[in-house]
Amino acid sequence: MNRNDTTARVAHVFRGTFVHSTPRAAVGILQNCVLGIAFIEKDQDVVSLSKLWGEYINQYELYIFYIFFMPGMVDTHIHASQYSYTGTALDLPLLEWLNTYTFPVEAKYKDLEFANNVYTKVVRRTVKNGPTTACYFATIHTDASLLLGELADKFGQRALVGKVCMDSNSAVPQYKESPSECKEETDQLCKYENKNILSDCFAPSCSSSLLSELGEIANKNKFHIQSRISENEEEVELVKTLFPSCKSYTDVYLMHNLLTDRTVMAHGCHLTDEELEIFRETGSAISHCPNSNISVCSGMLNVRNVLNHRVKLCLGTDVAGGYSPSMLDAMRRTLDTSKTLTIQDPQHKTLSFEEVFRLATLGGSEALSLDDQIGNFVVGKDFDALRVNVCVPDGPIDLFPGEGPKIPVLSKFLIYLRVVPVPDT
Ligand code: GUN
Repeated sequence: MNRNDTTARVAHVFRGTFVHSTPRAAVGILQNCVLGIAFIEKDQDVVSLSKLWGEYINQYELYIFYIFFMPGMVDTHIHASQYSYTGTALDLPLLEWLNTYTFPVEAKYKDLEFANNVYTKVVRRTVKNGPTTACYFATIHTDASLLLGELADKFGQRALVGKVCMDSNSAVPQYKESPSECKEETDQLCKYENKNILSDCFAPSCSSSLLSELGEIANKNKFHIQSRISENEEEVELVKTLFPSCKSYTDVYLMHNLLTDRTVMAHGCHLTDEELEIFRETGSAISHCPNSNISVCSGMLNVRNVLNHRVKLCLGTDVAGGYSPSMLDAMRRTLDTSKTLTIQDPQHKTLSFEEVFRLATLGGSEALSLDDQIGNFVVGKDFDALRVNVCVPDGPIDLFPGEGPKIPVLSKFLIYLRVVPVPDT
């Protein structure tokens, strides 16, 4: 690249090691790199690179592997409205859990002061735990949902926010809407033409006519769609009785035009191979939420099988069914679940930590159709990154002589370390 071509466009330059995933390589390590906003260049001789770009480098880093850059992580499934009780209330199976803990708390978000307090805390907390992009569930309240989007903007997080839509099967009478209220409120959201809006529709909480309305609105406005599917077996049975004319749980969403290449469905633990085929054909994604799948005893998603079906796959914390807002935790639990499946069946091909790294970064961006903007360091994308320092004084991991560069340090980080978001520039 000719320096003269780019100097006018370069605002910031970072020097060091960049770790990312591409469709070909689960982990690609770019050492000795200088990355400028608008260009990336590789050379064996970092000194001459630095001289070349020196006057533009305002973020000097030591040339060692212990500090590296990685793409911001993408949390593709998190209930901001449940953050206040994270780490508690994990003693019931899903359907009882929803009626006992979730719906009563979510009903409180009518009060914007309450919403402001919790939403400020959840955005600040998640930013500290890795995700530069989060796909949030809010509640049925439009004003509070918009507030969540504003707070994410304020704290520098890319957010997709879904207003919950539900008209059925809530044990809390005030926590549901009539189909017409739901349509009116969702139409209100259509006025805000940006990516911060997702339509949300959980089949057991929605009538068929509401699902049809939502499918129509989402397709007309090219909205992202998020919901959950086949999380636990009792729920799968319930859906069969609620929608007897549909062939499967997946068929319920398909029939209501809710499976598109902008759809992310969480869980999917009990999907059949036939259903996974429908996911592949429609380009819909599955968000794997291993912490919550185990915490509320829902099931274990066989990620390898989903990948073999070439279905888009990403990771979610699923706070507060999951007890941790950390994407590092989501990665570790993904490995744990995969290893458990291998213990049960030695033929099962365990996931590698490199594959899990890809799911947390590039996989998330693909699932949300944001891979033209984020997910890795390919030229032309936004600089959406974490700067990781694995040797901070008194840090949580120890490194030993001869360790690193490359995989061992990255692996130790993914297994143990906290993350430091890139400061605002
Ligand atoms: N299914 C419907 N609503 C929810 C929720 O809030 N959390 C989880 N884990 N599953 C759900």
